[in-house]
Amino acid sequence: MEHIVINGGTKLNGAVTISGAKNAALAIIPAAILAEGVSTIENLPYIEDIKNLVTILENLGAKCEFVTKHTLKIDATNVNKQKADYEAVKKIRASYYLLGALLSRFKSAEVALPGGCKIGQRPIDQHLKGFKALGATHETKNGMVRLEATELIGTNIYLDVVSVGATINVMLAATMAKGTTIIENVAKEPHVVDTANFLNMMGANIKGAGTDVIRIIGVDKLKGCNHTIIPDQIEAGTFMIAAAITGGTVKVENIIPKHMDPLTAKLTEMNCIIEEGDDYITVTSPENLVATNIKTMAYPGFPTDLQPQMTSLLSVAQGTGTITENIWENRFQYANELMRLGCNIRVDGRTATTEGPGDLTGAEVTAPDLRAGAALILAGLAATGTTKINSVGHINRGYEDIVGKFSRIGGDIETKGK
Ligand code: UD1
Repeated sequence: MEHIVINGGTKLNGAVTISGAKNAALAIIPAAILAEGVSTIENLPYIEDIKNLVTILENLGAKCEFVTKHTLKIDATNVNKQKADYEAVKKIRASYYLLGALLSRFKSAEVALPGGCKIGQRPIDQHLKGFKALGATHETKNGMVRLEATELIGTNIYLDVVSVGATINVMLAATMAKGTTIIENVAKEPHVVDTANFLNMMGANIKGAGTDVIRIIGVDKLKGCNHTIIPDQIEAGTFMIAAAITGGTVKVENIIPKHMDPLTAKLTEMNCIIEEGDDYITVTSPENLVATNIKTMAYPGFPTDLQPQMTSLLSVAQGTGTITENIWENRFQYANELMRLGCNIRVDGRTATTEGPGDLTGAEVTAPDLRAGAALILAGLAATGTTKINSVGHINRGYEDIVGKFSRIGGDIETKGK
């Protein structure tokens, strides 16, 4: 079986170029369905999630062509199916965007949901609440969610929880609804803004993305457009933490430094030296890394998708660190794996406490999910001796060439058993 082998203990030094944002791409590719025309999407990350999503679009009737590894042309003119079954969607979590996209264009959608995942339940009640408010009926039967509408009509929608998925999905559905839709208490994540920008380039009239309220004036038709995906905030953060945990200096390039503010603030509190340019951040690890406290929150709070990686870092810092997880109810499953590497972690409900600096030593571990897999790589890079990480499929789902990128900045890391 494919696994990653790391001989840890070397300092990372050098520059790494960050790929396009996975979570933006997972919304923008389905959004291309809204136009009867051709859209070209650039700076896509070359990862399993994207390849699987493209296959789903092709099954719906879209013509998709990778012009390069990172540039995808989607001709959605002949999309003629509104159904994506379990076999097609089970490999990706974000299949729910097909609901909003198909409903928007065809007033009808039937999509299987992949179900919950290891980090927590993935309810879609807020997505459905939004679709219903716009005039769609919904039914869940045999694992499929089915939406139907004679027409979609703009309205006021207040989301009960701040949800990235519900915000984007309701935005997709409202883009071609009649009249004005106002969505309140929305998520402000960079990929919400990127998706709104893409839709506006296609001819939509969406204002307020990035604030608490999004206003959409429905338009009749959208056209294809060209769009460049924003850089991946979570991949960038993973490499910033990598510099800190290995005692090195890493320049993280092709990023939007503003998106990194919640992490930059924490690394600064931990004594890291940060240099920020227009499109890069350089992180230098200090001699005395000190622990801090993290609470995950919706953007611009500390991202839950960097929480596991921070636990690795806090485990090697001096003193007591706390990590409070406010988004997903089950996101500390990796703690036992990190403890196999020598991290001193105690989990109590939604809070984990670290005591450091731990003396990390290599071991065989298994990645329980995508970001936890990244946390294990980081701990493996910091540990002395050899670490073997199993279940790397989770990691390849969301990080482009993570092994290559780490080895080019000095990590002794390779993939084996392919
Ligand atoms: C997205 C990201 C994921 C990240 C998460 C939070 C993608 C593909 N995935 O997931 O990596 O961890 O944002 O930043 O972009 N909720 C409800 N009802 C709903 C929807 C959500 O109660 O209808 C709750 C969830 O249980 C969770 C919270 O809202 O507690 C946030 O979820 P949400 O922002 O929707 O996460 P995703 O969009 O699924």
